[in-house]
Amino acid sequence: RTVYVNGSFVPEDEATVSVFDRGFLFADGVYEVTSVLDGKLVDFAGHCGRLRRSLGELQMTLETTDEELLAIHRKLVSENAIEEGLVYLQVTRGAADRDFVFPPEDTPATLVLFTQAKSLIDSDLANRGQKIFTVEDQRWTRCDIKTVQLLYPSLAKMEAKSRGGDDAWLVRDGLVTEGSSNNAYIVLGDGTIVTRDLSNLILHGITRRAVLECARHLQMKVVERPFTVDEAIGAVEAFSTSASGFVCPVIAIDDNRIGTGEPGPVAGKLREVYIAEMR
Ligand code: PDD
Repeated sequence: RTVYVNGSFVPEDEATVSVFDRGFLFADGVYEVTSVLDGKLVDFAGHCGRLRRSLGELQMTLETTDEELLAIHRKLVSENAIEEGLVYLQVTRGAADRDFVFPPEDTPATLVLFTQAKSLIDSDLANRGQKIFTVEDQRWTRCDIKTVQLLYPSLAKMEAKSRGGDDAWLVRDGLVTEGSSNNAYIVLGDGTIVTRDLSNLILHGITRRAVLECARHLQMKVVERPFTVDEAIGAVEAFSTSASGFVCPVIAIDDNRIGTGEPGPVAGKLREVYIAEMR
């Protein structure tokens, strides 16, 4: 694979980052994951906009412009012949002597990008539906910033896996926030789609925004509010959204079957319409 690091396109085994990089020492960095369908980037503008917001919230500066970021994405997609998959981008505050105080303003950010070829449309998980386990949300309260501080979500997902599940839904004060790396939704008996409202407690998903727009176009009723685990267990359907999973049905929560225990029609329709709109 060809990867990008600080201005150069290099074979992956020749790419290097300093041991003093603040991403490595302090998780002082932000990232984006953009999907690729038919060799084309999905909602690049959305991901770029959120990247700028994450950078701003952490007072981090990146000299590279949006146009340059787009060109880097496109070059990696074509060099690595990615028809379907993901582009990962990470920006850190750069390399500096280890100090909790930020390094001088002129310290260049570290910019790394790489691709991952992956079958996204024909996904095993989407076909069979996910089994979810709920885990306490012990993350910090700036989940709206897409930082590389992913240890807790990783632990939560491992906890779900150890119980025979596919992923974790995180719960704060009795209310579901989101999945370990996706936004969470339930469908009520009257067809209403419920998903947590935007705040500092969840990531403002780029897929979430597009999928909610699809739902509204399809005349589906959408309510953005918190929901409890019990409400989720009693729902007729549940699903998650993310750049890597698109719309992915949930068939069980904490060993309780959701609806029929099969991927539901609302998730199925939204997945189909989202993919059709985006490709
Ligand atoms: N995760 N919530 C969390 C905590 C996430 O990490 C993600 C994305 C989402 C969905 O956001 P989007 O629709 O913009 O992908 C919600 C990415 C895919 C990842 O970490 O791999």
